Amino acid sequence: MVKAVVLGAAGGIGQPLALLLKANPLVTALGLFDIVNTPGVAADLSHIATPAKVQGYLPPDGGLKKALTGADVIVIPAGVPRKPGMTRDDLFKINAGIVRDLAEEIAITAPKAFILVISNPVNSTVPIVAEVLKKHQVFDPKRLFGVTTLDVVRASTFVAEIVKDTTISPNVTVPVFGGHSGVTIVPLLSQSSHPLPASFDQTAREALTKRIQFGGDEVVKAKDGGGSATLSMAFAGAQFAEKVIRALKGEKGIIAPSYVHLAADGAGGKTVQSEIGKDLTYFSVPVELGTSGIVKIGALGPTNDYEKSLIRAAIPDLEDNISKGESFIQPSK
Ligand code: NAD
Ligand code: LMR
Repeated sequence: MVKAVVLGAAGGIGQPLALLLKANPLVTALGLFDIVNTPGVAADLSHIATPAKVQGYLPPDGGLKKALTGADVIVIPAGVPRKPGMTRDDLFKINAGIVRDLAEEIAITAPKAFILVISNPVNSTVPIVAEVLKKHQVFDPKRLFGVTTLDVVRASTFVAEIVKDTTISPNVTVPVFGGHSGVTIVPLLSQSSHPLPASFDQTAREALTKRIQFGGDEVVKAKDGGGSATLSMAFAGAQFAEKVIRALKGEKGIIAPSYVHLAADGAGGKTVQSEIGKDLTYFSVPVELGTSGIVKIGALGPTNDYEKSLIRAAIPDLEDNISKGESFIQPSK
């Protein structure tokens, strides 16, 4: 039995994500919470012939608590998206409070659940959730994940386009580490499962790296004030959630990149810190998943000089974003 919960379930990401979770036969209960429209979304999804029993909740009468009760996996896409000209950090002033308040109830009602944070700025919202859980003395770094899967999905798609075979894109693996905004997104093209053609020179490599780092801007621009990526994000979020659920159910050896607290695996975290040359607390790394969350943090692996320079460039923004999130909950930090 697996209960998945979506907080922000009536939104642009929330609805297709809820659909994909409802379509997943591993999910047996689906709790949907939003400040609007969840009864309608739940009624609609409940007619789909898959095992998950769907329930929608609104804030009155303890709706959030009811949604979270018995949760195994909680996915959070609640909050406002970007408009053209905005950075993800511009969303902090609204989304930080939304995520904090949701985390307060998670700490009380579902402290053992796996928490998958989508709301931006992920580099800061994950530390916010961690600090709230710490305040309630229920923080388990093995169970908290910033969802960076969309960066990996984009990298796979773009590389498959370059090798001119989109049929292979689901099998292309390009590790993307660091964080989830602009220069904090660090694709390691040298580790692509499908090597780039010999004609692909450093200029082309830099252009592709930029495209992966700023892929979100492409969608924000195209939607022209109508928000940011929703459908590709729902696909990526459902893909990551499925990996977490399969691991929770006992499947071994599942590895995926995610933005996590590096204490989730002391030894693995220290290896990554030595690879990046900095004692950062959060970084997107390859994590091996198990029944209790993160089993192991893997090393980033070999990087070329250009990729080393990308890691160096990511660190100052990540430090700022992390401390901004932490000090939002604990001003003394
Ligand atoms: P949206 O505006 O379409 O939907 C957000 C939903 O959150 C709305 O339905 C809204 O009612 C709900 N909400 C607001 N306050 C809430 C609260 N207190 N409790 C519960 N629900 C609440 O936005 P969207 O396009 O779905 O994007 C959501 C977030 O996801 C944004 O912050 C966006 O930047 C982020 N995002 C992250 C990634 C990623 O890769 N991690 C990708 C795309 C978007
Ligand atoms: C993305 O990468 O598409 C999301 O983080 C949304 C955004 O603001 O770009």
